[in-house]
Amino acid sequence: MTRFTVNNQPVSYALDPQTPLLWALRDASNLTGTKFGCGTGECGACIVDIDGAAVPSCRVSIAACEGRFVTTIEGLSRDRSHPVQQAFAALGVSQCGFCIPGMVMAAAALIRRNPSPADAEIDAAITNICRCGIYPRLREAIRLAGRIATGAETVSALPPPGIDPGDAAAAVPALTPLRSPGAAAPDAR
Ligand code: FES
Ligand code: FES
Repeated sequence: MTRFTVNNQPVSYALDPQTPLLWALRDASNLTGTKFGCGTGECGACIVDIDGAAVPSCRVSIAACEGRFVTTIEGLSRDRSHPVQQAFAALGVSQCGFCIPGMVMAAAALIRRNPSPADAEIDAAITNICRCGIYPRLREAIRLAGRIATGAETVSALPPPGIDPGDAAAAVPALTPLRSPGAAAPDAR
């Protein structure tokens, strides 16, 4: 059993300890905001926060998370009020949206360290890949998020309430137990 904290809730995973964190979050905890892109640590779609650092969850095993604090996009705020979420919504950063959870998690870790990053610092910290090409607005949004975080600016258009991480976890189908050999297949409806 591997134990750590996800979105401020203690979790225990009865999975192979070498299971990538990404799949424990998505398949066992139904926290599907964290996306799978490349699986090789290159694209950033799967980034979560582990003890304050932006980490690609496809490249870290659950064993390596033992006793640590993991935050996913679902747990960043309970109402999408995090400065990065506000800034992304206010500036309309998202296009197809697939890369956005990883972008937001990476940006949140950056402005926590440095709320006024220069373009070069943003480029160095946010290496996430976006096939829609949001990069110019991404920089602008990160600068705005930093100003929101320090209280230097507010935005009036708060995004609507998001999913409650507790609710997401409650709806988890969890991992379907393996069927014993010869057992009837489930209805394929
Ligand atoms: S899926 Fe993890 S970095 Fe691409
Ligand atoms: S918004 Fe489409 S991949 Fe980034």
